[in-house]
Amino acid sequence: MAAGPLRLGVNIDHVATIRNARGGEHPDPVKAALLAVKAGANGITAHLREDRRHIRDEDIAMLMAALDVPLNLEMAATQEMLGIALKHKPHAACIVPEKREERTTEGGLDAAGQIAVLRPIVAALTDAGIRVSLFIEADAAQIEAAIQLGAPVVEFHTGAYAHLTGEARAVELRRIADAAALAAKNGIEPHAGHGLTFDNVAPIAAIPQIAELNIGHFLIGEAIFGGLEASIREMRRQMDLAR
Ligand code: PXP
Repeated sequence: MAAGPLRLGVNIDHVATIRNARGGEHPDPVKAALLAVKAGANGITAHLREDRRHIRDEDIAMLMAALDVPLNLEMAATQEMLGIALKHKPHAACIVPEKREERTTEGGLDAAGQIAVLRPIVAALTDAGIRVSLFIEADAAQIEAAIQLGAPVVEFHTGAYAHLTGEARAVELRRIADAAALAAKNGIEPHAGHGLTFDNVAPIAAIPQIAELNIGHFLIGEAIFGGLEASIREMRRQMDLAR
């Protein structure tokens, strides 16, 4: 299958992490988002966590006002987050699992085990014109749940792929490629993200059905050495080469 365009969503959470370390306003995640767009990001992703450890409520309002590219709001499936999403109406909402004590999102959402909880949330977001994505493992049962929920997008968790090596990584890559094909066959747009770096992005970017990658931590970390614009431009280049 011929691969279509591959979008890059830049996750700016960790610009806010650095800002919050000193409690002031610097570095500004909105400024980072605008620079990311200049460097080739097609959209901006931000995760408003329950504990507000990085992105804060006012960041979402400011991003909505400043951006002319899509904002993808990552959110837990809670009434509080649903209310915030409905207030701001971002282009997309990606529903992620959230555990208070975790360092980052550690695995995919168990959509198959939570259909009843997710159904009204997906419906309310959809009714508000927000494109719903479910952050899931590359697993047929989870894709089936996305179909049942009517989610137009799934984002495959690439964290395990990113951390594995050798044959185990190759197995995980095949799992993601198979899942992307299954999702696309069922009319669902597959995205992917988590743990992607210059060293591991190419095989994921080469999966023809995958339409968007969401990348954060590595790009913000790499910006320390070469600047944010350069790190995003290089990621964009690697993605395009792999396609
Ligand atoms: N996609 C989702 C749904 C995420 O939760 C995250 C991490 O916040 C990412 C992508 C980006 O992961 P990373 O920061 O490891 O690039």
